[in-house]
Amino acid sequence: MKFFIDTANLDEIAEAKSWGCLAGVTTNPSLYAKTGGKLADFEGHMSKIAELCAGLPVSAEATSEDAEAMVAEGRRLAALAPNIVVKLPICEAGLAATRTLADEGVRVNMTLVFSAPQALLAANAGARYISPFVGRFDDLGEDGVSQLADVIACIGNYDWSGKNVDDTVEIIAASIRTPHHVTQAALLGADIATVPFAALKKCVHHPLTDRGLEGFKADWNKVIAGA
Ligand code: G3P
Repeated sequence: MKFFIDTANLDEIAEAKSWGCLAGVTTNPSLYAKTGGKLADFEGHMSKIAELCAGLPVSAEATSEDAEAMVAEGRRLAALAPNIVVKLPICEAGLAATRTLADEGVRVNMTLVFSAPQALLAANAGARYISPFVGRFDDLGEDGVSQLADVIACIGNYDWSGKNVDDTVEIIAASIRTPHHVTQAALLGADIATVPFAALKKCVHHPLTDRGLEGFKADWNKVIAGA
């Protein structure tokens, strides 16, 4: 399973990228708003992320509400850099815009997916990536992991050749809150988990690793002192 970072914060992206295991970036309007970014700077900001992560897929979300406007916005976003993936929400307009953009060779990440039927529609419309949300189910006291399992199983039952530019669909486990979500996504065979910076840091660390490091350091200092 590949790791994407779910943020629009350039410092977080740069740090996660420096670890050498980052495979992509996903953003959304809320994550951009969190950076304090202005409307006029949105496309410039997406270009900066795409440049920082050259060669890695970077999802930039369109905010238009009808299909025609989504297509126009999607074309503009895709033209910013070759590694930009256009993120569109699952809805009638989003599906229609996905079909048009996919036929033009644009990669689309279909977001706000909460069910297997939504995922199947997205894949048939030409989505290159599908983002089922896990954590938002858990927020409601429901089981996000079992919904993710359904999406992965249903998409995995079919061959998506001819549906999009790469002839394949990858599932991005999204709305990931904890290392446990990451483990569950990988056990289910998700292609990608997109993880916020704080949760990614939690994945790097483990209390026993940290305690082990302190122990090694203390013992090594004894060796140095005795030299
Ligand atoms: O990027 C989409 C998704 O990961 C959002 O997650 O935490 O807002 O539910 P969250």
